[in-house]
Amino acid sequence: MTEPSTQEQTTTTNNAPANVAVDTSFENDSSYGDELSSYTASLTSSVLDYRHENGRRYHKFRDGSYLLPNDESENDRLDMAHEMCLLILHRKLYLAPIKNPQRVIDLGTGTGIWAIDFADLHPQAEVIGCDLSPIQPSLVPPNVKFLVDDIESEWAYENNPFDFIHARNLLCSIKDFEKLIKQCYRSIKPGGWVEFQDWDGYPYSQDGSHNDTGLKQYFDEVHGAFQKAGYEVRPGVKLESLFKDTGFVNVHVEKFVAPHGVWPKDPHLKEVGTWMQAQAEAGYEGIALAALTRYQKWTKEEVMILASKARADGRNRKIHAMYDFYVVYGQRPEN
Ligand SMILES: C[S@@+](CC[C@H](N)C(=O)[O-])C[C@H]1O[C@@H](n2cnc3c(N)ncnc32)[C@H](O)[C@@H]1O
Repeated sequence: MTEPSTQEQTTTTNNAPANVAVDTSFENDSSYGDELSSYTASLTSSVLDYRHENGRRYHKFRDGSYLLPNDESENDRLDMAHEMCLLILHRKLYLAPIKNPQRVIDLGTGTGIWAIDFADLHPQAEVIGCDLSPIQPSLVPPNVKFLVDDIESEWAYENNPFDFIHARNLLCSIKDFEKLIKQCYRSIKPGGWVEFQDWDGYPYSQDGSHNDTGLKQYFDEVHGAFQKAGYEVRPGVKLESLFKDTGFVNVHVEKFVAPHGVWPKDPHLKEVGTWMQAQAEAGYEGIALAALTRYQKWTKEEVMILASKARADGRNRKIHAMYDFYVVYGQRPEN
């Protein structure tokens, strides 16, 4: 499963257009955007004894270390985000040039949807999905299994390393990406690949239309709270240097833009933006609640108001917000 060359090099593909054109054909029309209307893990009862707070359900294992809920509504959002990521990558699950992987792990697997799709695509591979929450389905391909574990703790995979390690959408989840990527390096076979797909969690606009909006205020407050609590909210921008500093070779970076909403003229970006809006609307409250109430002493009602302003501005086609999404992969040298 190796590339012929392990010579040190970095390639970057910038898929982000210099200017994302606005679809002005329905600037005054309000109809379009509003339509978005078998565990093999040792599951002890304590793992399932979830925390309930402000009407949401949270993981119990390593209680308090992840600030987003793990209930049905959040899991639906994760599956929407999966569809959005597939769209961004033109329906590819990964971009690394892996060949015939035998042992694969998906870090922070969430609902396990990526791991299940990967296992279907590579029936010869043994795929592990690892998460704090046992929220994955039990009816899964025979070559996938799920483990409850904390990927920020010390790993014990060095004597049984992987061919491919994958991690996606771990912004607001991980405090120490440098340590995580070093653990990946130690647990990947020589010649094996590690791929992270992640975000710069702060949206922006090319025309300034996102300034002074409820959407901007939402991310300033919420991601500000995550940052104060020690979580990385912009991992995408740091991945390349973390991979290179760790010793990975053949590091490749692909940068994409993901608009928020249906405003782009380009049909592909409009579709990505539609999914972005859908998953964001499913997530505004859940993403913000624990970060702002536990760490910033906001009330639930204050969070609801912040979320509703973000939702309203997120639907406004005159606000042309977008995010940068990065796919970074690298190879452990053969020798
Ligand atoms: C935003 S979700 C992303 C899910 C999945 N990677 C995807 O792209 O669909 C982040 C996931 O990471 C998990 N997580 C957060 N911190 C973790 C940790 N320290 N160890 C294991 N899983 C963790 C959460 O429980 C959650 O399911």
